Amino acid sequence: MKKTKSGIYGLNSLLDGGIIENTATVVIGAAGAGKTTFALQYIMRGMEVGDDGVFITLDENQEQIIKEAVDMGWVDILEYIKNGKLVFIDASAEQFSNFIRKELPSFVQQWGGTKSRIVIDPLTPVIWAQPDKYVQRELISFLFKELRHVGTVVCTLEEHGAGDLTGPETVIPMYMADCVVHLKYSTKGEGVERKLKVVKCRRSRHSERAHDYKILPGVGISIHHKKRESTGKTEVAEKVLAEFRERMKDLPKSTRIRLNKALTGLKDSDYETIDPNIFLSDIVEEYQG
Ligand SMILES: Nc1ncnc2c1ncn2[C@@H]1O[C@H](COP(=O)(O)OP(=O)(O)OP(=O)(O)O)[C@@H](O)[C@H]1O
Ligand SMILES: [Mg+2]
Repeated sequence: MKKTKSGIYGLNSLLDGGIIENTATVVIGAAGAGKTTFALQYIMRGMEVGDDGVFITLDENQEQIIKEAVDMGWVDILEYIKNGKLVFIDASAEQFSNFIRKELPSFVQQWGGTKSRIVIDPLTPVIWAQPDKYVQRELISFLFKELRHVGTVVCTLEEHGAGDLTGPETVIPMYMADCVVHLKYSTKGEGVERKLKVVKCRRSRHSERAHDYKILPGVGISIHHKKRESTGKTEVAEKVLAEFRERMKDLPKSTRIRLNKALTGLKDSDYETIDPNIFLSDIVEEYQG
């Protein structure tokens, strides 16, 4: 399973290395949260490693987005567009929905295996263009399924509700996506508060906390870690493993092998909110009698 460097400083460690290739990630955030910045940063990082880039803007002005990138200091974008490494597609939600239904499969078939990063910023109008929830679900599911063949997808979603991810236009894409990142942006009180949280990430461990982030000129989104998340296996995890080996002697061999492998993969951070003794007792209890 290969992981792609996201280009968002500090995010890779929250996703255990990066975004899994050929998956679909949804980035949700209110106005000004940094969705377009995230999308641009992700695509620009791809340019550095030779990926192809497709930036689909819906009901948004593509000139405006390119200007934002240049203002951010990412002037190379003009060169990438000129030499065809990065393609912008500017469409209305209706045009794009028709494209998904009628032309996407043949587009995907003709693509021919090059690694690419695909961005849709924002996906929200596609949902709105389709009032029937069942059809929304079918359309988004089909879109993700097809695009995963072509590359690694990042879609942004506007957050219109109370900021708790329950808005009707966010729920369906959240289910369909492999990975969901919430850019929680609050303007209550005197200043602004920005927090990034990984809501889900299929097939991977991920951070379960909210992390402060900033948007810095020239840099883009940068997550501010107060301390580095421990990646290495350390004291607690090894102690639990040793204790497990001690207590597991009576287990069936296959179970012993499976659990031994599982516990070897755990880190100290996994035990942060667990009492190792109770944890082991629960395992033993499961196989007794
Ligand atoms: N060139 C820049 N220099 C410094 N900060 C910037 C720059 N460009 C953007 N930002 C910061 O990023 C914020 C908006 O980011 P962005 O446009 O990515 O948000 P968004 O979530 O896409 O918003 P919208 O919902 O309006 O599309 C700005 O409000 C600003 O704080
Ligand atoms: Mg935007």
